[in-house]
Amino acid sequence: MLCSLLTFFGLYSLACWLYENIRTPVLLVVNGIQELIHGNRRSLSQKYGPWAVITGGSDGIGKGYANFLAGQGMKVALVARNEVKLKKVAEEIRNKHGVETKVVVADFSKGESIFDHLERELISLDIGILVNNVGVINEKPVRLERMEKRLLWDLINVNMGAATLLCRILIPSMKQRKRGLIINISSLASLAATPYLTVYAATKAYMTSFSDGLREELRPFGVECQTVSPGYVRTSMTEYFASAEGEPSELSKRVISVSDMIRYAGFTISKADTTTGHWLHGIQTGILKAFPPSLRLKIFSKLYTQLLAEYSDEKPKTS
Ligand SMILES: NC(=O)c1ccc[n+]([C@@H]2O[C@H](COP(=O)([O-])OP(=O)(O)OC[C@H]3O[C@@H](n4cnc5c(N)ncnc54)[C@H](OP(=O)(O)O)[C@@H]3O)[C@@H](O)[C@H]2O)c1
Repeated sequence: MLCSLLTFFGLYSLACWLYENIRTPVLLVVNGIQELIHGNRRSLSQKYGPWAVITGGSDGIGKGYANFLAGQGMKVALVARNEVKLKKVAEEIRNKHGVETKVVVADFSKGESIFDHLERELISLDIGILVNNVGVINEKPVRLERMEKRLLWDLINVNMGAATLLCRILIPSMKQRKRGLIINISSLASLAATPYLTVYAATKAYMTSFSDGLREELRPFGVECQTVSPGYVRTSMTEYFASAEGEPSELSKRVISVSDMIRYAGFTISKADTTTGHWLHGIQTGILKAFPPSLRLKIFSKLYTQLLAEYSDEKPKTS
């Protein structure tokens, strides 16, 4: 009796894990084969609309998405703070891919006050894809009470406010056109609370929940929503992995590049509703999901306590 009960729970747990982790690869294979068989290879602009808006599109992962989407023939609108950097990236994209570009200067850390300006700049475009990518992080692992008040507001306004308010502005026209795709960039950090990156990880848990909920709201209206939860990617956000001498650390050498991530993440667009953005991060996520949430917290806690010791001037205090 005990043996069959254990077998039942073992099989049930395995089935749950497989459903959670094999779903995306299966969707990619099935939808990829379907596209090939039916020759259903409409371009992204034919399927969703001609313009893509990318927040934080002037650097890192956002710049990667902007280049990928422009390479697929989409016109791109880049939103970020630094006008000089934005114009340079827009020019690079125009020269490389021959598509129309637009730059919108906006600082999401300013909160509510900037969204009228964004609405004026974006509402007249036929937007097919919105990539809610913009995000900030504390430079190094740090205790909450040692964080600047300004940085805490930035984490809230930039990492959560930007995506939430932009969706509110752009969803009505997507619904009217009965097409569109919203790509929300979350993080592997959303899988468990992360001490010393506590607020950052909480904003990413918000993004995953927001994105997954919104997908169900939008499904009946023909608008899609994809959640992307990458692990570490080599960008200015993860610069602190470089050692004090500026040499890449062992950890930083193992971090994947933006171009590697975008090659895979780009392939998943319109095929899977959730992805990590890279197969290697898919494996890392699958391994983490084999542990119950309370154990995941212990793993993250151990890892980030070590990082606090390594990258901060403060010594960790363990219980
Ligand atoms: N890198 C990783 O390992 C990793 C892993 C998982 C998830 N993610 C997520 O991926 C997203 C992109 O990260 P990334 O590593 O590519 O970052 P990044 O290289 O630091 O680029 C950030 C982009 O956001 C813009 N930005 C920053 N603050 C802004 C603000 N207040 N208002 C408007 N624009 C602002 C920057 O433009 P300006 O120069 O104009 O400020 C830049 O274009 C984030 O949501 C991050 O949480 C990253």
